[in-house]
Amino acid sequence: MTELNWAPESWKNKQILQQANYTDSEKLNSAIEKLSDLPPLVTSWEIFNLKKKLAEVQDGERFLIQGGDCAESFEDCSSPIISNRLKVLLQMSLVLIHGLKKPVVRIGRFAGQYAKPRSSDLESKDGIELPSYRGDLVNKINFDEASRVPDPERMIQGHASSAMTLNFVRALIDGGFADIRHPEYWNLAWIEHSGQSTEYQDMMKKISESINFAETLAGRRLGNLSRVDFFTSHEALHLHYEQALTRKVPRQNGWFNLSTHFPWIGLRTNQLESAHVELLRGIQNPIGVKVGKETSKEHLIGLCKTLNPNNEKGKLTLIHRFGSDNIDKHLPNMIQTLKDEGIGVIWCCDPMHGNTESTSNGFKTRKFEKIKKEVELAMEIHKSENSILGGVHLELTGENVTECLGGARELNEKDLERAYKTQVDPRLNYEQSLEMAMAIVSKSNNQ
Ligand code: PEP
Ligand code: CO
Repeated sequence: MTELNWAPESWKNKQILQQANYTDSEKLNSAIEKLSDLPPLVTSWEIFNLKKKLAEVQDGERFLIQGGDCAESFEDCSSPIISNRLKVLLQMSLVLIHGLKKPVVRIGRFAGQYAKPRSSDLESKDGIELPSYRGDLVNKINFDEASRVPDPERMIQGHASSAMTLNFVRALIDGGFADIRHPEYWNLAWIEHSGQSTEYQDMMKKISESINFAETLAGRRLGNLSRVDFFTSHEALHLHYEQALTRKVPRQNGWFNLSTHFPWIGLRTNQLESAHVELLRGIQNPIGVKVGKETSKEHLIGLCKTLNPNNEKGKLTLIHRFGSDNIDKHLPNMIQTLKDEGIGVIWCCDPMHGNTESTSNGFKTRKFEKIKKEVELAMEIHKSENSILGGVHLELTGENVTECLGGARELNEKDLERAYKTQVDPRLNYEQSLEMAMAIVSKSNNQ
């Protein structure tokens, strides 16, 4: 135990929620052992680099964009899905940099977003009851008995898929994919006919002209335009998996979760006595925690004091998710509470999880208008409370899916039948994501 009275396994004495029910403990232990010997996915240097950037977000000097699938799947660990998602995030970040006139920090919800909390342990369909799908890290989504048995070996596969995803993202970025002089690399084929496309292309043209102008003036090529930083995040839900990747690093103090740069604690496991809070309070990574209308004042203060006892800048991001109808009732009080306590955090708006609803034809969906409204209200409230909205947390994909209603193409309930592919929550498609980035810019410039 360290002076924090913490150890990588101290979570085992706390309240353990939302875990797989493994029946074969021998198989579980052997998978954990194997996982503990596999190489880490990220490094402590990258983790510190992100924390530094998040400190700038906390000061309002940088904007955070965090986005990706609700639930990644092993099957989607493929070239087009990974590169399309990257393209959307790069395009969105360009819109934000240009419009907000500040740098961004990009965090993907990928390379490890494989474990999901569920509202019930069991799922029933046509009179048959089976264990719920808890993400590809635990079991398979198919509704049959064999698929739903939690299999510890899937943790090894999860590590491998995360490594492959990250390897491809790193190679693309290092190879010049993110080079601002070649934005055509980021174009998605199906977007050409969209209204946003024209606006986006106009903006790209302006940026290119500015770069050409600056380079002509300087008489040389501007450095550093070809590389961007990209970080990963996921919900640190699967305690065995996260513990196996929580390690010491040579010549550094403390412990690091080396499965991702930025692990976060979900709303269902954010209790002060929870095993998840225990595991994450002991690490050096910057971390996130979801808060919502159910988070009391004492709970909020407790989370900040437990997860960031030294009030370190860049360390703790509160990801608030109230729903567009509730944000104005709760967010101002939260901001005030932390101000009164002298506690500093990064505020990040998740406008997705408080705005989920079901359609009459049985789809879990979200209305684009409500998502947009929650972000706009978050911006307004932070401004009027003299606080800073550091960024947004979105569920999105680079695919042409129809999962959220509305947006420029006014997707309706019937459209959802066409390309509803998500494993868990509905995601913004490429067009809706870009529209969201433009809405953030427009709100920021008009308030
Ligand atoms: C999620 O981000 O997919 C999620 C489950 O969110 P929350 O914990 O806010 O419900
Ligand atoms: Co989700």
